[in-house]
Amino acid sequence: MPTTSLPTVLLIEDSPTLSLLYKGYLRHEDIQLCHSSTGAEGLAFIDGQCPDVVVLDLNLPDMEGMDILKAIQKQNLPCAAIVITAYGSIDVAVDAMRYGAFDFIEKPFSGKRLLVTLRNALNSRSLQRQIEQLSQYFRPNYHGFIGSSLAMQRVYRIIDSAAPSKATVFITGESGTGKEVCAEAIHQQSPRSKQPFIALNCAAIPRDLMESEIFGHVKGAFTGASGERKGAAEQADGGTFFLDEICEMDIDLQAKLLRFIQTGKIQKVGGTGTKTVDLRFICATNRNPLDEVAAGRFREDLFYRLHVIPLHLPPLRERSEDVLLIARQFLQTYSTEEHKEFVGLSPECEAIFTAYPWLGNIRELQNVMRNIVVLNQGQWVEAEMLPEPLRSVRPQPQRLLKPHKVAQPDTSPPPQEILPLWQVEKTAIENALRYCQDNIPNAAALLEVSPSTIYRKIQGWQKNGQDTKTKP
Ligand SMILES: Nc1ncnc2c1ncn2[C@@H]1O[C@H](COP(=O)(O)OP(=O)(O)OP(=O)(O)O)[C@@H](O)[C@H]1O
Ligand SMILES: [Mg+2]
Repeated sequence: MPTTSLPTVLLIEDSPTLSLLYKGYLRHEDIQLCHSSTGAEGLAFIDGQCPDVVVLDLNLPDMEGMDILKAIQKQNLPCAAIVITAYGSIDVAVDAMRYGAFDFIEKPFSGKRLLVTLRNALNSRSLQRQIEQLSQYFRPNYHGFIGSSLAMQRVYRIIDSAAPSKATVFITGESGTGKEVCAEAIHQQSPRSKQPFIALNCAAIPRDLMESEIFGHVKGAFTGASGERKGAAEQADGGTFFLDEICEMDIDLQAKLLRFIQTGKIQKVGGTGTKTVDLRFICATNRNPLDEVAAGRFREDLFYRLHVIPLHLPPLRERSEDVLLIARQFLQTYSTEEHKEFVGLSPECEAIFTAYPWLGNIRELQNVMRNIVVLNQGQWVEAEMLPEPLRSVRPQPQRLLKPHKVAQPDTSPPPQEILPLWQVEKTAIENALRYCQDNIPNAAALLEVSPSTIYRKIQGWQKNGQDTKTKP
């Protein structure tokens, strides 16, 4: 069993002479090379500890080498297989690629050919591993958020790190960017998630009632205070207290809030005694808090007390890759709620949505989707269904795909020579192969097709006499 952290390569080859030859070719590589001389032994090795790469001779004494490939593919094992085939057996090679082989080498081959193919396979495995590791941190949804952009991944990571602590989070962002969603996400992600989450909107409550809303009041504290009442701070005891639109708070009350944050003690309006509460503070504003401090509307000492972990939510126009993701999810939710049959947005709508600036951010997008679903019928959202501000958007022409519009015949001469499609395809494949020095998997990656597509094309050209110099 290998013990080092070097990548493991398993050679499955029954011929002692060839095994020795291949081992010789690979002797200077930084790999842990293991060898099985039968298929059964090879399969047992793969089951026990999946190697990074298998170099597999398809002609084995005890089983079809192809069955080993099938086993790797069926279990979706993280292992790249290089298949050794007999000279001229391109059909077998095509089959091997269909069963997930990374590449194949025709016998006899040089040491250099084996080394290049092996290094490509090891690189591909290493890239695959990195993608798998990164994808663990890549989340299209997070608590109430939808968004897979890098900007939102950063927000999710800050929430992950800040949530376990008691430190105050200061959320900024334009209206409709999800500040309240963010406050709730921090609470949900925190150890206080089973305790209350109490939100108080400082802009929505009249000035003279605000103190009693936060701290509560005793009976008779003011006209209309017919009984004792708990304030929001006391209701949130043990949990999270979210002060939304904090910059709208009356300046006199800001002094009381500061004292409360420093001491953790509340005193009800009209009362004499104090009570200690345990709170995690989160606050939010759509203003620039430093401008408010400079204008004398927001106390500087309170700002620095609260501004411990700043978290800025990016506007939607700066993460346009999220627009369609959010739009599709809202479409699905509202269609279900409204018993409609919408399944998606037409390409034209998608282009308009991507070009539109969404100044009202996600709230605006949410309202637009609700409007479309409620007022229209059908499966696809078409441009005519869009409400006014979107209807006048002119998307960029290259984003516009109109698959169902029939083009009018054009009588002007073609801009360049028009070739048969197979010829264009063949030239593209040959160019990619030349660029990749005949490395089919690399060329396939550049062309965004599977390697077996290239093998099949080459076979097709040979069969149809569409003369080719391209050889895998
Ligand atoms: N990333 C998101 N994914 C899905 N829904 C979102 C997202 N961000 C916000 N929303 C939704 O958009 C609406 C507005 O969000 P929210 O109230 O949190 O914004 P806000 O920044 O507090 O806005 P305002 O400053 O106007 O109070 C809510 O219905 C919320 O559920
Ligand atoms: Mg809000």
